[in-house]
Amino acid sequence: MLTKSGAPKMGPLDLSGEAPGGPAAGASVRLDGAGHSYGVLETIERLDLDVAPGAVLGIVGPSGCGKSTLLELIAGLREPSRGTIAVGAETGSDGRLALCAFMPQRDLLLPWLSAIDNAALPLRLAGSTRSQSRERATAPLRHFGLSGFEQTRPQELSGGMRQRVAFLRTLLSGRPALLLDEPFASLDAITRAEMQSWLAGVLSEQPRTVILVTHDVEEALYLCDRVIVLSARPAIAMAEVEVPAPRAEDRAAAVTSPEFASMRAGLLGELGKGASR
Ligand SMILES: Nc1ncnc2c1ncn2[C@@H]1O[C@H](COP(=O)(O)OP(=O)(O)O)[C@@H](O)[C@H]1O
Ligand SMILES: [Mg+2]
Repeated sequence: MLTKSGAPKMGPLDLSGEAPGGPAAGASVRLDGAGHSYGVLETIERLDLDVAPGAVLGIVGPSGCGKSTLLELIAGLREPSRGTIAVGAETGSDGRLALCAFMPQRDLLLPWLSAIDNAALPLRLAGSTRSQSRERATAPLRHFGLSGFEQTRPQELSGGMRQRVAFLRTLLSGRPALLLDEPFASLDAITRAEMQSWLAGVLSEQPRTVILVTHDVEEALYLCDRVIVLSARPAIAMAEVEVPAPRAEDRAAAVTSPEFASMRAGLLGELGKGASR
């Protein structure tokens, strides 16, 4: 069943064929005194982070403070200039890369491939044949509300659909840590809210360690167990909030509660302080 914008209502999601070794419930992510610079441009002054396997961590911070850089560092696409970063037991960049699936800010779907072939790309890269990988991706694609759009190319899909294909591709990698860089930033408010509920449902069925970068404080507080506010560059952690009951089934009720409003006001205050640090 689909909601107004086409985001699916969640039923059971079967990703059993997804990954060599089966679905992975999560890997820890740990930063010890990690810092980073692009030459003379210091992006991250110092971060210490400890994310337990299966936890969902939100990162908010002003534009340009180093959020995307932070995800690239964790994913092993860059090395920190100082300190250490570990995903599970892996501290080297190749080891981290093997445990992380990175969904970049732009969906980066390949325009010449259909929705199903885009989603199934990690399976193809892992050695499955085209027909095997399509077969495995078919049920999850339907589950993600894309039934009938299997053969459609990305440019003919709506923004929400493209994000779901990109997210499925991230999930089908079977990696235990998902790094999501502003996954819903380009969507309109209604679709964004529906996609947030949808992601909450996916994560309750398929727990993974998630680090979610967003500029949307409400999105972070709804989806994440814990939210960290970064300062302007060079970034440090300005504040941290534990969310008592994230990913409630009734999103609209959750985000309009007085407790939610007070957490949001607190985080926005910290963001304001951090922006002018
Ligand atoms: N490859 C790069 N080389 C040099 N500077 C970069 C590079 N990528 C990003 N930057 C700069 O680093 C800072 C942090 O960028 P980024 O991590 O993209 O911030 P955010 O995601 O928080 O908006 C910005 O000032 C940006 O211009
Ligand atoms: Mg960014």
